[in-house]
Amino acid sequence: MERGEFISKFGIGVIAVCAGCGIASCSSGSKNNNPVPAQPVPPAAGSGNVFSADLNSELLNIGDSKILKNVILVRLAAGNTSTSFTAVQVICTHQGATIGYNANQGIFICPSHGSEFSQAGQVVQGPATAPLQKYNVTVTNNVLTVSA
Ligand code: FES
Repeated sequence: MERGEFISKFGIGVIAVCAGCGIASCSSGSKNNNPVPAQPVPPAAGSGNVFSADLNSELLNIGDSKILKNVILVRLAAGNTSTSFTAVQVICTHQGATIGYNANQGIFICPSHGSEFSQAGQVVQGPATAPLQKYNVTVTNNVLTVSA
């Protein structure tokens, strides 16, 4: 078989197979097989009680925290009064990562891009520009209640 004869015989088949691959990859790429999950939503202002904590057995030490319903509650000081605690949304206002409390620095830090928030939820360092929502904390008979 001569070179020209080989190309004319099998060249068309190779082109057809390559075109098929291209079409297949286009069609699978146009489908959204991995949709971005919806970001969690913290309790809205005015929505009432969020959760409670029994201070006889929870949050005993300064820096202890409890995360529930997209809110982080942290003990900031000794004593079972409302001023010994803070509660803010645990969802970073930048892109929705889960923030954590750094007891040594006394701030909330987002591990994703480094945003920092005060104990009251105000932005200390970006890239976040919006504050964390802050929640009310009340203490009655060693039962702490977080509410919106
Ligand atoms: S998601 Fe928190 S800083 Fe980007």
